[in-house]
Amino acid sequence: MTETLESLFEPIRARIAAAESQESAEDVLRQVERETLDKGGVVAALLAAIPTLPGPERPLAGKRANELKGAITLALAEARERLATRAMERERAGSGFDATLPGQRAARGGLHPLVAVTRELEDLFTSMGYVVLDGPEIETDYHNFEALNIPRDHPARDMQDTFRLDPEGKLVLRTHTSAVQARGLKRLAEEVRAGRFAPPFRAIVPGKVFRQETTDASHEHTFHQMEGLVVGKDISVGHLIGAMKTLLRGVFGREIEIRLRPGYFPFVEPGFELDARCPFCKEGCSVCKRSTWIELLPCGLVHPNVLKECGLDPEEWSGFAFGLGLSRLVMLRYGIDDVRLLLSGDLRFLEQF
Ligand code: DAH
Repeated sequence: MTETLESLFEPIRARIAAAESQESAEDVLRQVERETLDKGGVVAALLAAIPTLPGPERPLAGKRANELKGAITLALAEARERLATRAMERERAGSGFDATLPGQRAARGGLHPLVAVTRELEDLFTSMGYVVLDGPEIETDYHNFEALNIPRDHPARDMQDTFRLDPEGKLVLRTHTSAVQARGLKRLAEEVRAGRFAPPFRAIVPGKVFRQETTDASHEHTFHQMEGLVVGKDISVGHLIGAMKTLLRGVFGREIEIRLRPGYFPFVEPGFELDARCPFCKEGCSVCKRSTWIELLPCGLVHPNVLKECGLDPEEWSGFAFGLGLSRLVMLRYGIDDVRLLLSGDLRFLEQF
């Protein structure tokens, strides 16, 4: 056991190097591995011979055997790595792989125009201190009608063709987001009773509503509204007009002239139809039907009966409400001429936004 590490390793290193240029490189490497590192290999033989050596030589012989084992292991691993890299390069060259070409882009969706406008309005209103409320689409007849001063057999029920969900008529698909007014007002009354409420209370309720009606370009069984509700002390029509002008300025990006006409809705008194000066023309166009006015925002002061029903004293509290036709607004904003397109799910339509 007088050989140096160098003299033991050199022939093995040479075999490994030679293997790399051969077709069956991995087979040759495996063979070298078997003859050196495996059971019955050179390293094992060196270790087995140690007990036959004179005592003082044993530590050096053990050290040398282990060094040899380490050197072979490393040389084999490096050779295999070089082989793998070369194989990958060959494959890339052959398959036309080009790492500098741009990758394939994953298809990416966009915001539905209804969602985009809703978010914009939510931003606008929350910046003015409003909260965003939600309510169920399957609603009780009570919240949708009765609490809003529309009793059973009242002719005003005919204004909205209703999808009824049970034979007794207790459950409906909500016909308007005004249903959430009743829910909001009742919660508010609880807060007032608990002494937690500091007026005013301001909320908007964007959402889906349903009407059982024949569909055409301007009627759809499912569409979107955004209710607004403000409750406080001494709320007047002046507050209502101010809020509506801010809303229109936010939506159209400039001052929009408005006019109020009387309008009948059982849950407001007085009630109005608010018209906006057509933002698209000066002398009449197809959007405003040549009138230069667009009927956009029914609104009014919350009816005392509604406040009372929901637990708020009308002598003390007052408020205003509005019902923005969100689907209609989106159509105006983007020049969409058929409401049925909005919920059609037709990608040819949606991809335009
Ligand atoms: N809910 C009514 C509808 O869908 C619209 C409406 C009118 C809402 C007047 C209001 C309002 O808040 O004050 O026909």
